[in-house]
Amino acid sequence: GTGKLTAIRNVGDKAGESVTIGCWLQGKRSSGKIQFLKLRDGSGFIQGVLAKSEASEQAWEAAQKLTQESSLYVTGIVREEPRSPSGYELSVTGIEVIQYTEDYPITPKEHGVDFLMDRRHLWLRSPKQRAILVIRAQIIRAVQQFFDESGFTLVDPPILTPSSCEGTTNLFHTKYFDEDAYLTQSGQLYMEAAAMALGKVYSFGPTFRAEKSKTRRHLIEFWMIEPEMAFVDHEQNLEVQEQFISFVVQSVLTNCKAELETIGRDISKLENVQVPFPRITYDEAIELLHKEGFDLPWGEDFGAPHETAIAEKFDRPVFITHYPASFKAFYMKPDPNRPEVVLCADMIAPEGYGEIIGGSQRIDDPALMAERFQEHELSEEAYAWYLDLRRYGTVPHSGFGLGLERTVAWICGLEHVRETIAFPRTLYRLYP
Ligand code: 4AD
Ligand code: MG
Repeated sequence: GTGKLTAIRNVGDKAGESVTIGCWLQGKRSSGKIQFLKLRDGSGFIQGVLAKSEASEQAWEAAQKLTQESSLYVTGIVREEPRSPSGYELSVTGIEVIQYTEDYPITPKEHGVDFLMDRRHLWLRSPKQRAILVIRAQIIRAVQQFFDESGFTLVDPPILTPSSCEGTTNLFHTKYFDEDAYLTQSGQLYMEAAAMALGKVYSFGPTFRAEKSKTRRHLIEFWMIEPEMAFVDHEQNLEVQEQFISFVVQSVLTNCKAELETIGRDISKLENVQVPFPRITYDEAIELLHKEGFDLPWGEDFGAPHETAIAEKFDRPVFITHYPASFKAFYMKPDPNRPEVVLCADMIAPEGYGEIIGGSQRIDDPALMAERFQEHELSEEAYAWYLDLRRYGTVPHSGFGLGLERTVAWICGLEHVRETIAFPRTLYRLYP
């Protein structure tokens, strides 16, 4: 029964003792006289060994009938086993089957992505998917540790909002009783208000964008970490970002060795992720792209192939700074020496993972802010509160947003962001 179970991850504390684990059968093989059971309980994996000469008849027969994903309690003696990845195995003395599973759809053979996505609720049980979710949780833990230990206060911005932050093209519309409302694209505007109250703040929450493009970098629902800092300028903003990202990557390397191995990540690439990160301006990036044979005119935004070509020149994330104001967000502060570009930066991850951070110094002048509302056709009424932040004790301030799923994809070396979250919301897919 469920009493007094030992988690597989803790069996090392009980070497030589008898333990009971609650688990699922991942697979098995038999040599006729010995059966090897691959067991998993979510916390880890262990091999159970039954010798016909030693096991009870009941246990031997129960093991023979076990099918993939059958659920069971297994009792056995913990033995040190240097050849096993965990260092231990279980000499099985008893088996209590909860359910013999029939026709589990995900077999060890290769399946197509659509087949697996339709069965995402079961696919999560595979060792690789489990490892990704463990690493994601470690990234979140490291994010919170970094900001909590650097004097930031966690603030939660709203999810239902009356107006947009990142342009109106991909807003997710809903009703708020009789009013129109949108699911948040970014908590930034609210975090600016929070920074004026608490100094240094960060948020961690879901954000939504009705992206009509089907790429390996876009989700409809994704999670963002958004720090915002009063009395911090563009340069200082970049310093926080590079410290932050190198801390998170090193924390995963330290704490998730087994999981990185399970997914086959080349960790030498991650070990490079140390401060300082290179910085190039948009102008320099355009020049670099021209040398690489792209003919992108000045004033146009980069697409995935451009970002990848730029990233290939560096062995760690790179900042691209000072983009043209024309295609960047309304709130970004113009460079005082060159107002056609803004004090912003995108952090581009190595190995083709694209932009993981977007950030900027914010406009702090109320007159310029009001001008921007006009240019971007944003209603002064809807943004009156945001203008207040510039009217009552305005200060230089900066912040950024890290996309969690793209960060997980990069750190895990995954082909597509859909595997970075338990139940991804992608274009046209809402099930399961
Ligand atoms: O560059 P973005 O649009 O910046 C903002 O939203 C700012 N308001 C953030 C801030 O300054 N507080 O988005 C930030 C990051 C991107 O760099 C990317 O990593 C991620 O969010 N992102 C997405 N991730 C997955 N799917 C999508 N559709 C994404 N859109 C943005
Ligand atoms: Mg961006």
